[in-house]
Amino acid sequence: MNASSPRSPNRRLMLSRGAALAGASSVGLLLPQIVRAQSNKIKVGFMLPYTGTFAQLGVAIENGVRMAIAEKGGKLGGREIEWYKVDDESEPSKGVENASKLVQRDKVDVLIGTVHSGVQMGIQRVARDSGVLSIIPNAGVHAATRALCAPNVFRTSFTNGQPTQALGKPMMDKGLKRTVWISWKYAAGDESLEGFKEGYLKAGGTIIKELSLPFPNVEFQALLTEIASLKPDAVACFFAGAGAAKFMRDYAAAGLKERIPLYGSGFLTEGVIEAAGPAAEGVFSTLHYADSLDTARNKQFRSAYASQFKMQPDVYAVQGYDSGQLLLQGMTSVKGDMSNKAALYKALETTVIDSPRGKWTMSKAHNPVQDIYLRVVEKGDNKVLGVAAKALADSGAGCKL
Ligand code: PHB
Repeated sequence: MNASSPRSPNRRLMLSRGAALAGASSVGLLLPQIVRAQSNKIKVGFMLPYTGTFAQLGVAIENGVRMAIAEKGGKLGGREIEWYKVDDESEPSKGVENASKLVQRDKVDVLIGTVHSGVQMGIQRVARDSGVLSIIPNAGVHAATRALCAPNVFRTSFTNGQPTQALGKPMMDKGLKRTVWISWKYAAGDESLEGFKEGYLKAGGTIIKELSLPFPNVEFQALLTEIASLKPDAVACFFAGAGAAKFMRDYAAAGLKERIPLYGSGFLTEGVIEAAGPAAEGVFSTLHYADSLDTARNKQFRSAYASQFKMQPDVYAVQGYDSGQLLLQGMTSVKGDMSNKAALYKALETTVIDSPRGKWTMSKAHNPVQDIYLRVVEKGDNKVLGVAAKALADSGAGCKL
């Protein structure tokens, strides 16, 4: 419970103080000060998965946000922060309800969320209806920065098609002409495939079969048997979190790893290399980040994160960190005055984020314009092989701002 939730002890205390003061007729002088002190704090709400297959992604994002803000003194535009949290369980059917808890009940000023594209659609509805400032620290659902874009919604991560768009050319360069695609059947899987097709078909490749299973199922066996019998040149996929680790382990255990090279949207190997063990070695992927990016900015971020949280950061931590940086810069530019929406949005639109992934800017539709790296897992690390796509922007198709 937090200080301003309707049933919190602090709030009760303030109300009873107010009532006592009203009796003393000095209320006109004193009560407004109490109210102002309360409302002067900025309320930041996390709507993230803290349970289920994406639980560790939610934690990494929250860590990143908190770290970026703590590095700059722990305030936003001079205002102290009151934090709120809702576990969205990566459950799309509860998306609107959970976002409403933060926006209607807790009255947050900023909603940071979420990971899962289906849940994001619920947040998007609540954000568009309420006008609350909303920062997307992961979910790549295209609509959020295309047809359903909004002036108050900003994404610091990617669109689902961005990483996979860059996958096709390096595969074709290796002569991998016939590929099986496999992923979870939901927006992130479907749109990752859309991006993959854009790059791979254009480069001359053929997708011989599209396989899927419902999110968050991890019963891969029957599909792996089918892949073995199809004998493609390569397999390309979208999986993430605990499910991704299981997929790589099962792929290796089925004996496919030595015969058919595995490629993925880079989430496949984010935060799960240790859990996947030797099965992750040699997996190729494309993403807007890599652990081993050899820049001072990335090294400084990684050592600070590791010493603060006693674990290694991944792309989710970076996206959280950049959400914190974005919010800091926006709030600093309006000196904490969120009622100045035009100036706040302008600042968020025009800022350059000095990210551990490399500098990036916001597209017109509010999605990062960023480099995509080709990586391979080597000795437990995502090693960078090069830039697979420079300053890649999502089309933003259908967005009118
Ligand atoms: C998504 O649902 O948009 C999603 C989830 C996990 C990822 C990437 C995208 O790693």
